[in-house]
Parts: sequence; structure tokens; C-alpha cells
Amino acid sequence: MFDTVSLRFCVFLFLATAANGEFAKSHEEYPRFPPNFVLGVATAAYQIEGAWNVSDKGESIWDRFSHYNDGRIFNNDTGDVASNSYYQYKEDVALIKKLGFTSYRFSVSWPRILPTGFANNVSQDGVNYYHNLIDELLANDIEPLLTIYHWDHPQVLEDAGGWLSSEMVDWFGDFARVVYREYGAKVKRFIPINEPTSICINGYTTGIDAPGKKLHGIGEYLCIHNTIKAHARAYRIYENEFKSKQRGQVGYMYSAFAFMPEDPNDVLTAEIAFEFNAGWTLNPIYSHNGDYPELVKSIVAEKSKQQGYTKSRLPEFEPEWIEYIRGASDFLAVNHYTTRLVKPGQSGIVPSHENDQSVVQFIDSSWKKAASDWLEVVPKGFRYILGELASKYGNPPMYVTENGFSDTGLLHDFDRIKYFYDYLKEMLLAIYVDGVNVQGYYLWSIIDNFEWRRGYSEKFGIVSVDFNHVNKTRTLKDSAVWWQTVLAERNLVPAE
Ligand SMILES: *[C@@H]1O[C@H](CO)[C@@H](O)[C@H](O)[C@H]1NC(C)=O
Ligand SMILES: *[C@@H]1O[C@H](CO)[C@@H](O)[C@H](O)[C@H]1NC(C)=O
Ligand SMILES: *[C@@H]1O[C@H](CO)[C@@H](O)[C@H](O)[C@H]1NC(C)=O
Ligand SMILES: *[C@@H]1O[C@H](CO)[C@@H](O)[C@H](O)[C@H]1NC(C)=O
Repeated sequence: MFDTVSLRFCVFLFLATAANGEFAKSHEEYPRFPPNFVLGVATAAYQIEGAWNVSDKGESIWDRFSHYNDGRIFNNDTGDVASNSYYQYKEDVALIKKLGFTSYRFSVSWPRILPTGFANNVSQDGVNYYHNLIDELLANDIEPLLTIYHWDHPQVLEDAGGWLSSEMVDWFGDFARVVYREYGAKVKRFIPINEPTSICINGYTTGIDAPGKKLHGIGEYLCIHNTIKAHARAYRIYENEFKSKQRGQVGYMYSAFAFMPEDPNDVLTAEIAFEFNAGWTLNPIYSHNGDYPELVKSIVAEKSKQQGYTKSRLPEFEPEWIEYIRGASDFLAVNHYTTRLVKPGQSGIVPSHENDQSVVQFIDSSWKKAASDWLEVVPKGFRYILGELASKYGNPPMYVTENGFSDTGLLHDFDRIKYFYDYLKEMLLAIYVDGVNVQGYYLWSIIDNFEWRRGYSEKFGIVSVDFNHVNKTRTLKDSAVWWQTVLAERNLVPAE
């Protein structure tokens, strides 16, 4: 089984290389972006908007989490004001335009649109804010890519169970319907849920992010189960009620670490790490048969049994759900930042998704570090994971929807330019040499913003925001100027 997988990958690479052979020979390096390749920037509502309590907006789980003020967020920072984009969105759009990006990925705040959490009460002010933002984008020829939910669900729904409750599937579907109804005439690409695995591990397993629940071995599996169903519900609602008129697309999002085996011949460990992370949420949607990977089902069932549980900690999809979920994506959205080496061994609390794998993740000490403790600079991992996803799932259309580098806020941010240059080079190799079907790239992020539990201590923007200034003054960093040249030439200009 594992040999088949690696064989398939080699055959795929061979075919892709052969197909692009002529082109490959004529380009020693691959500096040009393909025609029609989308280059954009990304943000998320809670991280930039502020205005957490204006008008009739409801409380989100991140409002609640950041207001505990007990040190769980660096410096007790909050997103109450953040980059103030609720009021300064026109400035943000002008910056995107000025730098030459042609698409903007942003998210809408669920409790701003539905203050009660439910679709019985749609906030006119909330709805209008995003209409204004989208109109401003379209007036500037910037294509909106709308994330329906980027981690800030209504606190009232969390109190009723949040992503541990299967009711969330219906509640999310109702919210998605409001979003399509309002914005679908103007927005042609939607991503229902940002980074399900981050929500479920950081929010419901380790508890380091909102809502802060620590349910190792149970929470992450229940949460993923419900986010996959909720994604599928949002996809089917679009397909059945809107697609014929609006003619847009809805894509599944996966937050992809690259897991590279320490021993290149250790195909089994590479396979386990891939299936427990990518396969866990992608197999139900993108594989031929649907459902969780057999390997994950059998390993979690076996571990659960050894641990004395009466049934597997991995929930089961009913057959009709397997059908409903399978194929529920028009494009694969991939967030990618970094890589881990993997080897066999024990790690993680018992029980947990981490422990179930019997795989140890580690880093090479020679890898350069960003300001974020989870972010090492490993450009080759980008090509590796894009190739893995392509070979495993039939080379679906993909968009890289986040990629970026954190520092402490330098204006002369050469390390960020270097990161973009080295990563984009690997992405272009994946496209031109390996034949991976990547159609667009969104960097994270256009402006500095609230970096979740790290508050304002880590900065990902190519434009700086002065958080101490009443006007949250925006200033271009060197990386923004570099991007401006790249976009003007549509060429990967060397980092100097
Ligand atoms: C909104 O929150 C701010 C703190 O960020 C507070 O000063 C202000 O009084 C609140 N406004 C309302 C209307 O509750
Ligand atoms: C909607 O919610 C707001 C804020 O909670 C409330 O003031 C308003 O009365 C609600 N409207 C309806 C129709 O429930
Ligand atoms: C955050 O708030 C808690 C509780 O008030 C306090 O003990 C802690 O010192 C604060 N931390 C910082 C960095 O201000
Ligand atoms: C903030 O911006 C406003 C409007 O542009 C301006 O009038 C004001 O002087 C600015 N405040 C500061 C402290 O720079």
C-alpha cells in the first residue's frame, strides 16, 4: 500500500516533468508567473477590523478570550481596535491597489452579520460594512476572495457547544446562506472555514487559542468531524441554491505543514504524518472513496481499544454523509508556512491526535527561524507539500491562500523579502517542473495585525501599522516595495 503511494508520486512527477519538458529546458530558472496567475494579499476580520462592540455586533469567542486578561494572550493584547480596518478599509484597499495586487482575501465576522449567532437577526450595519468593502474592491479592480469564517464564531454558539456540537453544522450553513445571498452577486470565490485543523487543535485540544478548551484526544476529532460536515453543508447550499445564478466557486481550505521524513526511505512515517494531518480532513472531500483514511481509522481504533475505550475516539461518518462530503470543493485552498521533519516515536499527551500517530515531529537546527516559535524557513518544503497534495488528490486546482514570515516589525525587512523569494521560487518549480495546478497565491499579510495569542508582538505585514498611533498609521516596508516591482514585472525579482 505504501509502495503504491510512493510509486504514484514518482509516476506523477515523471509525467508532469515530461509534459513540461520543452518549457523546462528553455527556462533555467522559472522567474515568470504564469499568465492569469492570481497574486493577492490576505487578512482576517478579527485580526484587522477592531470595532468589536459597534452597533449591534455580537460577542465572538475571540472577544471573550482576549478579554480574560489573564496572560493567555501576550501582553494581554486584544483585537478591540486592532488595525482599525473597520474604519480604515478604504486606506487598505488603496494600498492593495497601489502595490499592484489584483485580489484580496478577507473574512466576514459572523457575530457582526448575525448578532444573535443565528440567521433570525441579520445586522444591517454589519452587512453594509462588507458591501462597502466589496464595492471599494470592485471599484479598484481587485477581486474579492471571501472567507466566510476565520475563527471568530459567536460566543453564544460556543456556549451551546461550538464545534463540539453537530448543531454547528446547521448554524454555520444558515450563516453561509446569508453570506451568499448578500454578497454572491459580487463575490465569485468563497472559502467556508479557515484552517479547520488549527481551530480544532489550538482551540479544542491544547486550548492555547479561543475558545480555550483542552480536550486532548476527543475535542480535536469531534471538532474536525463537525467542521468537515459544516464545510460540506456550506458547499451544498451554494451548489443547490446559488451556483446556477451566481456562477461562483467554493473551496476547501487546508493548513499545510510539510512533513518530511528524516530518513528519505521511511515511506511509512511520511505516509502516517501525511494521512493524520492532510488526509484527516482532505480524504473525506478529495479522495475517490471519501471518508477518513483507512490508516487513520485503523490506528485510532486500535489505540482507543488499548486505552480501554469502548469505541474509537475518531467519530464515524454515516454513509449518506460520506456521499454528501465527497467532492464538496471546487478548488483547494492551501495555507503554507513551514515544515517539520518526522521520525517514528512517541509524542504528545495520551490520548491525543498527536500521540495517536506515533510520529515525532522536529526541526533541523540549521533552519532559519522567524519571530513566531512555530515558523522555520524551509523553502523546499513548499514544493514538497504542493507535490504531495497534487499527487494524492488528482492535481486539483489549488490556490495558496496564505504564506508569509513574521518578525518584530522591522521596516527594513530583508528576511521577509528573502522568505517570499525563496518560497515563490519553489512554488514556481512545483508549477513548471512538477506540473502542480496552482492558480494563485495570497501572501499573509497586507498589514500588520493582531496575531492571535501572540498579540502585537509578531508582525506578518508587508505594510507596518503604528498600533500606538490614534490613526494606526500605515507605512510601506521594504518588502512592500519589492512586491510592487514583482507585480509590475510579473517576474520573481531577486531579493537584494
Ligand atoms: C466598546 O469597547 C471599548 C473598549 O474597547 C469601550 O471603551 C467602549 O465603552 C465600548 N463601547 C460600548 C458602546 O460598549
Ligand atoms: C437583533 O439583535 C439586536 C442586538 O442584540 C437587538 O437589539 C434587536 O432587537 C434584534 N432584533 C430582532 C428582530 O431580534
Ligand atoms: C495580564 O493580566 C493579568 C491579570 O490581570 C496579570 O496578572 C498579568 O500581569 C498581565 N500581563 C501583562 C503582560 O500585562
Ligand atoms: C489623524 O487623522 C486625522 C484625519 O486625517 C487628522 O485630522 C489628525 O490630525 C490625525 N491625528 C494625528 C494625531 O496625527
